[in-house]
Amino acid sequence: MKILILGAGGQLGSELVNILQDDTLIPLTHRDIEMTDEQQVNNILSSNMPDVVINTAAYHKVDDCEDNIEQSFAVNSYAVRNLARICSELGITFVHFSTDYVFGGEKKTPYNEDNCPNPGSVYAVSKLAGELFARNICSKYYVIRTCGLYGAKGISGKGGNFIETMIKLANGGKKIKVVSDQIVTPTCAKELAAKVSQLIRTDKYGLYHITNNGGCSWYEFAKAIFGLTGIAGDISPTTSAEFGARARRPAYSVLENRNLKLLGLDDMMQWRDALKEYLIEKGYLLSSPNDSIPD
Ligand SMILES: NC(=O)c1ccc[n+]([C@@H]2O[C@H](COP(=O)([O-])OP(=O)(O)OC[C@H]3O[C@@H](n4cnc5c(N)ncnc54)[C@H](OP(=O)(O)O)[C@@H]3O)[C@@H](O)[C@H]2O)c1
Repeated sequence: MKILILGAGGQLGSELVNILQDDTLIPLTHRDIEMTDEQQVNNILSSNMPDVVINTAAYHKVDDCEDNIEQSFAVNSYAVRNLARICSELGITFVHFSTDYVFGGEKKTPYNEDNCPNPGSVYAVSKLAGELFARNICSKYYVIRTCGLYGAKGISGKGGNFIETMIKLANGGKKIKVVSDQIVTPTCAKELAAKVSQLIRTDKYGLYHITNNGGCSWYEFAKAIFGLTGIAGDISPTTSAEFGARARRPAYSVLENRNLKLLGLDDMMQWRDALKEYLIEKGYLLSSPNDSIPD
């Protein structure tokens, strides 16, 4: 397949570039393309004519979005609308990523694809608008909601991912406070990228939740990082109210990979197992094939 990737320099984009090596790839970073420039996007897509466009680019500094409403909608909504329209006109399959933050967090059990969104921040509203444009404009689309991504590259502009941040703070001897009242599913970008590679070959278009399985608070996730690596982090729980972030986050946004399950494709790891694999790969945790990894 000929696949064009937007956001190829990012956390998920770089994992997709790695995993899709057997395809004909056109990986575009922000330096190569400005996705809000409709004319440029049109020129690049129509001159390359890929089978599939995968958009991982987003404006997702969630707190900054509260103050930069125009930019949030320009990148996360209008640019996605234009991409969807161009893909639809050129017969290109459109793959787009959305977020667990489209949900309000009122539930206590995992959200499936049929549950009603109730976004509580500018970021979340702009992402929901983007996914609705994609779903309404395209007939050949995969809109994929994911949650709590971490990848080797780290999130652009956020100085690494949550795991690396925790380890850096602990190694620097810092007191660490992490919220214990937001329940999520930390999701490994590498595993998500592999699942996307599988899904886009099915022609089963639609809306998908794709995360690792299970759920935990960010505090529990940080405790697991320190527990597994043996790094002594001076960590204590805090609340979202005490933390005082500008944007509202859902108290509970665990997603059920229900549509993936219906295709028989939900073999996503439990979040703790995926974390162990990441820590082994990054050299924080040693494992030999005969050893069981400690919980
Ligand atoms: N990270 C998470 O925890 C999380 C959770 C749920 C959903 N998601 C969604 O998953 C997707 C991938 O996230 P990620 O963590 O891989 O993000 P990321 O690391 O920030 O990667 C996004 C990439 O898009 C590029 N980009 C940003 N604005 C652009 C524009 N206007 N034109 C062209 N390129 C642009 C960025 O380049 P520059 O940095 O150079 O601007 C960056 O390389 C996003 O749709 C996000 O909303 C993420």
